[in-house]
Amino acid sequence: MTNGAELTVTGVDRAFGGVYAVRDVTLSVAPGELRAVIGPNGAGKSTLFALIGGQLAPQAGEVRLDGARIDRLSAHRRARLGISVVFQAARIFHGMTALENVMVGAHATNGAGFLAGALRLPVHHREERLIRERALECLARAGIADWADRPAEELPLGQQRALQLARALCAQPRLLLLDEPASGLRAGERERLATLIGELRAEGLTMLLVEHDVAFVMRLADRVTVLDLGGVIAEGTAAEVRADPRVIAAYLGAAPEETGPEAAAAAATATATATETQTATGGERDAGTAARAAEDQGQQNAGVREDSASARKGAEP
Ligand SMILES: Nc1ncnc2c1ncn2[C@@H]1O[C@H](COP(=O)(O)OP(=O)(O)OP(=O)(O)O)[C@@H](O)[C@H]1O
Ligand SMILES: [Mg+2]
Repeated sequence: MTNGAELTVTGVDRAFGGVYAVRDVTLSVAPGELRAVIGPNGAGKSTLFALIGGQLAPQAGEVRLDGARIDRLSAHRRARLGISVVFQAARIFHGMTALENVMVGAHATNGAGFLAGALRLPVHHREERLIRERALECLARAGIADWADRPAEELPLGQQRALQLARALCAQPRLLLLDEPASGLRAGERERLATLIGELRAEGLTMLLVEHDVAFVMRLADRVTVLDLGGVIAEGTAAEVRADPRVIAAYLGAAPEETGPEAAAAAATATATATETQTATGGERDAGTAARAAEDQGQQNAGVREDSASARKGAEP
């Protein structure tokens, strides 16, 4: 059983060049909860993850882990507190085997660490052996044990995504952030990933999951938070969020007053289409493309005017 952490984000802001990527976001995730974070391209999902993981510092607001403030800590310190991130873009260390890539995950958080290694202390050898064993277990959990001794850059895309997940697990996280982990995966690989995420949830790990394949996350998550234009526009169960007019508007580009049951039906179709698009193409199109295709499809289904997206933007303060 993992002792999942509690995450509390309160009023965080982050702007780039004066434009807010994340604005006044508040979010509480209970220990052991699997929370989905969804939203259109550019909504601020990855930026929010970077603010939690420590790759970016918030310009306002607070991030707390089990009640203690962490928003001033480096990404490394946060990793040692139990936060692991699987980034949206593949981050593979070239010139290292798959196994060594995963061992890096454990080194990010281990205690004796670098100094013991440099001094070649006995504790280092013992620790190294334990880390190797743990890394092999994580590779197996991620379904890529057979690739352990291959150079990481030789792994196909699906296996590289699995490698990142194995590395994150090797750090023995208490809070795991997954940014589009299913992107680029084939249907069978997506199913295996869904099973693994379900197992991690059953073990009590706290997780945040960003995914463009809305059907994929809705099926797995306890609750869903929806971001649009940097802010939270809805939060609730999958069913509550699906029926929320602001969510339908964000996905279909319609103003809230234009939405109704037809638009809700179209949103559901758009969601389903996103899944089908990826499956039909063997997962070779990226998730963003699938989502955009779904948006187009949704607009056609809803009969929403083409200019409604710009009308919506114009209505923003
Ligand atoms: N380092 C950066 N410098 C400048 N602008 C940035 C940077 N990172 C993100 N942004 C901008 O912030 C906004 C939010 O980006 P972010 O990547 O968080 O969105 P996202 O919801 O993850 O989108 P996607 O679904 O496409 O991954 C976008 O307008 C993006 O262009
Ligand atoms: Mg992103």
